[in-house]
Amino acid sequence: MPCCGRVNSLNQVPIMTQRPLRVGIVGLGANTRLRHVPGLPAHQIAPEHARHVAGDARVVLYGTDVRDEDLPRLAVRPYPIQYVTPWTLKDGSSVLIRPIRPEDEPLIVKFHETLSEESVYMRFFHAMKLSQRVAHDRLVRICFIDYDREIALVAERDDPETGEPQILGVARFGKIHGTNDAEFSMLVGDRWQGLGLGTELLSKLIEIGRDEKVERIVADILPENYVMQHVCEKLGFVLERTMGADMVKAAIVL
Ligand SMILES: CC(C)(COP(=O)(O)OP(=O)(O)OC[C@H]1O[C@@H](n2cnc3c(N)ncnc32)[C@H](O)[C@@H]1OP(=O)(O)O)[C@@H](O)C(=O)NCCC(=O)NCCS
Repeated sequence: MPCCGRVNSLNQVPIMTQRPLRVGIVGLGANTRLRHVPGLPAHQIAPEHARHVAGDARVVLYGTDVRDEDLPRLAVRPYPIQYVTPWTLKDGSSVLIRPIRPEDEPLIVKFHETLSEESVYMRFFHAMKLSQRVAHDRLVRICFIDYDREIALVAERDDPETGEPQILGVARFGKIHGTNDAEFSMLVGDRWQGLGLGTELLSKLIEIGRDEKVERIVADILPENYVMQHVCEKLGFVLERTMGADMVKAAIVL
């Protein structure tokens, strides 16, 4: 039995702040190994800028008498901390490569603000306005993922000028329904391209794909995207270039 536990009703929160609060609570759940945590009672929750602050919060743990096998099964897979690794760019900058989290949304907005039209085109295969790329509905889907079906990695560091965290690149793969294949895509911020990050992110996706029992990782790449094609070939992807085709098909069997 848990030691204690009572979570305040969301009905007590003004309607305007319920949605972000729900996202925050679910995000906390996604980032915590919650099997041992039956309750996170929080009182006096107040909106503060884009965040919520709880004046009185406790973490409730199951007692040591509860065996691991008796703990409840999780509906959502916990944050895969085993995929968090530090790494150093060719220019000496240290980054943390880690799976994306729901609260990364504002950092992803800032990341998109820095991208050139060319990088956006190479990634999405067409022009896409900033307002479309940072639309909240889109970013919720991108940041709040089911780690059983997809993994997105971000490379993050603290900006030495402002001390604020910033995202330098994002890479993801999603399992293709009904197969053991996964499709990847990636985007490194223009300022950070050519420093080895794309290669490192893709090799991490390959490692994770093996751990996750993915059989094949595939991608479509624009024929003029020589950099992505080069990175893929370097890491063992086979490229299928068909004359006149819209896309180069890349695939690696794991
Ligand atoms: C493609 C992308 C992810 C690569 O990331 P990156 O961090 O710049 O890549 P890296 O620094 O690890 O490697 C770049 C490689 O391309 C090589 N390269 C650079 N210009 C090249 C060119 N014109 N032709 C071929 N190779 C080229 C570099 O020499 C380097 O290879 P090396 O390490 O063997 O020397 C990044 O450029 C990007 O985000 N581009 C825009 C979005 C995009 O294209 N996404 C892919 C959609 S599928």
